[in-house]
Amino acid sequence: MRKPLVAANWKMHGSREMTRELIMAIRDGVDDSWDTEILICPPYVYLDEASRQLDGSGIALGAQHLNPNPGGAHTGEVSAPMLADLGCTHVIVGHSERRAMYGDDDAVVAANFQAAQAAGLIPVLCVGETLEEREAGTTGVVVAEQVEAVTAAAGIEAFDKAVLAYEPVWAIGTGLTATPEQAQEVHAGLRGLLAKMSDKIASDLRILYGGSVKGANARALFGMPDIDGGLIGGASLEASEFLAICEAAGTPARA
Ligand code: PGA
Repeated sequence: MRKPLVAANWKMHGSREMTRELIMAIRDGVDDSWDTEILICPPYVYLDEASRQLDGSGIALGAQHLNPNPGGAHTGEVSAPMLADLGCTHVIVGHSERRAMYGDDDAVVAANFQAAQAAGLIPVLCVGETLEEREAGTTGVVVAEQVEAVTAAAGIEAFDKAVLAYEPVWAIGTGLTATPEQAQEVHAGLRGLLAKMSDKIASDLRILYGGSVKGANARALFGMPDIDGGLIGGASLEASEFLAICEAAGTPARA
């Protein structure tokens, strides 16, 4: 069975104080009876602080980005081995903000995915369509191309140690959420696409939904058969909201 995963993407938010307080509040609020794996992805500069705060909690640490080179003359960049050294187990790749604002095209995303795995990190690969693409009826094609760019480079086997996240661009940070049915349709399509390459890997792969997930809409989304948790932006900056989402992912009503 796919254990639900709820991942916090803090984006470019926070401070040392916020990192300490938010993680402390999350640690205090997590209930051991929830069947939820939790991942927190703060900005690079707070990873070390977060790693200390998370020590012994069972909550995983991830980064939001990486440079695909293992080291060298790349001023300002951070490599996968450095992230692993800080205690990260995961890293987000291909987030729509990176694709739209920082030139992370499919080739860059595939290289980042592979570099993460080479350092033993689990990539959280984000895919999603824009509003124009949805309205043009091309959602399925767009997300398939984004995934296939990575399977072509890394092979289907690589998805054995990866997480996929469907994040419709129009739903990120907008307060507009895909309906559970809209999200389920895309998740099922993605799983079906991967199943053509490997049934086993496709059925074991966790596919998260992201885009304005909140405590109030999480349970309906996570109740869908192909939605295995969430990638949470805005609502991950508030402990009570984030905890409500973690609870929704990992309590029996999901079944
Ligand atoms: P949001 O962000 O929850 O604020 O919509 C999700 C994401 O960008 O990962």
